[in-house]
Amino acid sequence: MTAASSSGAPPKITIEGLALDYVNPDSGARHRAVEGLDLVVATNEFLCVLGPSGCGKSTLLSAIAGFLRPARGRIVMAGENVEGPGADRGVVFQEYALLPWMNVLDNAALGLKLRGVARDERYAVARRYLAMANLHDVEHKYPHELSGGMKQRVAVARTLANSPEVMLMDEPFAAVDAQTRMTLQEELGRIAMQSKLTVIFITHSVEEAIFLGDRVAVMTPGPGRIRKIVEVPFTRDARTWSRLNADPAFTAMREALLNLVRLGHDAPAQARTV
Ligand SMILES: Nc1ncnc2c1ncn2[C@@H]1O[C@H](COP(=O)(O)OP(=O)(O)O)[C@@H](O)[C@H]1O
Ligand SMILES: [Mg+2]
Repeated sequence: MTAASSSGAPPKITIEGLALDYVNPDSGARHRAVEGLDLVVATNEFLCVLGPSGCGKSTLLSAIAGFLRPARGRIVMAGENVEGPGADRGVVFQEYALLPWMNVLDNAALGLKLRGVARDERYAVARRYLAMANLHDVEHKYPHELSGGMKQRVAVARTLANSPEVMLMDEPFAAVDAQTRMTLQEELGRIAMQSKLTVIFITHSVEEAIFLGDRVAVMTPGPGRIRKIVEVPFTRDARTWSRLNADPAFTAMREALLNLVRLGHDAPAQARTV
């Protein structure tokens, strides 16, 4: 079965029969983290991925980023097999990964600097995305002077400044406090709408997945594949936390997704074929 997009937009990323292994460098033993995974992500789609811990979410994201090669199957982006990392895909991890000796502006402009963009231009571009992330007034501060939420906003601005076509985000808000997380979610939803990105967003929070996603994909326990994809019925520009929390449809969807994530997690281990 191919978990095709139903939005009608052309596919941005097509994944077919994907298997991903980790190989122990000493023993040569293989650990299969992802098995038989099919997924189509539409252009400009915001896809959230949920799944039990250890099911292979981060591994999948690493493979789409090009850090890990498929053991089987393929990942196609814009008609080409993904063979390695590229500027067309920007990655944001849970750890902020800012350079401590650079101020906010230089951190945000780093990717552009590495690509040889002249100073004035890279600062102009970086400032545009810092403004989008509500960080215009802290550009001369250093990472140690920022809160966790601000650091993560710098990391997001830095990735956006590289103008990726696809943003790959691995639990980027998991390490910030709940109040800040809600603000970041609202900001990211707005930024994604404005900048016409395709986003693959990994999270372990069902609420976060519904709040941000056009669709939510649920993975099986490891070795993971896509168990089910659910469309989020709430219009994007009406998604604020106060509205969703008051909507019985949100509560119902949360329960249904929670059950899908738990399914198999509590059940006996499935037979695995590698
Ligand atoms: N670098 C690694 N080397 C070996 N095994 C790994 C490595 N990273 C993850 N794994 C294993 O691969 C499986 C999937 O891990 P991961 O993708 O991190 O899961 P998730 O992000 O869904 O929690 C797990 O069984 C994990 O232990
Ligand atoms: Mg992970």
